[in-house]
Amino acid sequence: MMNLIINGDNFSPNVPPSTTMLDYIRDHLGLKGTKEGCGEGDCGACTILRISDGKLQAINSCLMQVGQADRGQFITVEGLAKANQNILTPIQLAIAEGGGTQCGFCTPGIVTALFALIQSDEEITEESIHETLAGNLCRCTGYRPIIEAAKKCDRPKIHFNATAPTTHSEKYQFGGQTRHAPSTLRDLLEILSSRPDAVLFSGGTDIGLRFSKGREKPDRLIDASRVKELNFIEETEDSIRIGAAVTYTAALPEIERLYPSFADIIRRIGSKQIRNLGTIGGNIGTASPIGDTLPCLIALDAKLTLFSLNGERELSIEDFFMDYRKTSLSLGEVIHSVSIPKLASDQVFRSY
Ligand code: FES
Ligand code: FES
Repeated sequence: MMNLIINGDNFSPNVPPSTTMLDYIRDHLGLKGTKEGCGEGDCGACTILRISDGKLQAINSCLMQVGQADRGQFITVEGLAKANQNILTPIQLAIAEGGGTQCGFCTPGIVTALFALIQSDEEITEESIHETLAGNLCRCTGYRPIIEAAKKCDRPKIHFNATAPTTHSEKYQFGGQTRHAPSTLRDLLEILSSRPDAVLFSGGTDIGLRFSKGREKPDRLIDASRVKELNFIEETEDSIRIGAAVTYTAALPEIERLYPSFADIIRRIGSKQIRNLGTIGGNIGTASPIGDTLPCLIALDAKLTLFSLNGERELSIEDFFMDYRKTSLSLGEVIHSVSIPKLASDQVFRSY
């Protein structure tokens, strides 16, 4: 059984696991504040908040599957005032009073995205506001009053009851769909070798389009994001190794420290909402010719470690890509990690 908490209430969704969080929130829970604009991670109208390690992260609910949300805790725009003794939070008031909304369609997504910034310890600057709003489109009001509202708004810490996470459900079936969410690499490889036709993903920001826009319902899904061996960052004297299920957001501080120019590219990938879900491993695995990290990783001469039930192998990232969306991964093989060499004292790295 899946279980999740939305705005403090417990739900056990009985829906196919690839149902988008957006459809679940709007159509099954009747919470219509969260909007659907593009359905592909571009407009931010569907922004909701996930509580992760006590911090709020904005995510695109159109790209997140309900299965990915299992045992998670989320806040929609309706949950903000609910946590604030049923009065509008300062950012909602500031946007309303400052003329930051006209049609209002984009506003719930803008409010939730800015709320995550205002609740964080990050300094509120022109730059941090712009970075926060990079994934939110507003076509009528213009951004000036919205940015002014974010600058002026108070920053009280609003408390959300955090519940202790419980073990997630490793297998869930509904409506002809089976979702696996293994916790170990061994389990992942065994499931994959018995069902090589399954759709494998971690953050799901690329594959999510097939469910939100394409309305596809594959029979079998494998979510690798909970595999503990794929969730690590390890530094040695000569390199940094990033597990395939590490999100852009989690990897960014390390990349910033070692390759600031590469970090500038990562900050331009989609938006915070996308980077909070998407992974560098997924960017490599999808082998898209427009994969943002790939030119940097090739230029830095990164190496990939691949695992299958037959063991592990290492290969240069350049040899990994065969053709348009074609890789040298064998059947039943997964990306375990990417290792990026550190720059020598006589090397510089710049990306544009
Ligand atoms: Fe546009 Fe989700 S509906 S980003
Ligand atoms: Fe944002 Fe109209 S107020 S699109």
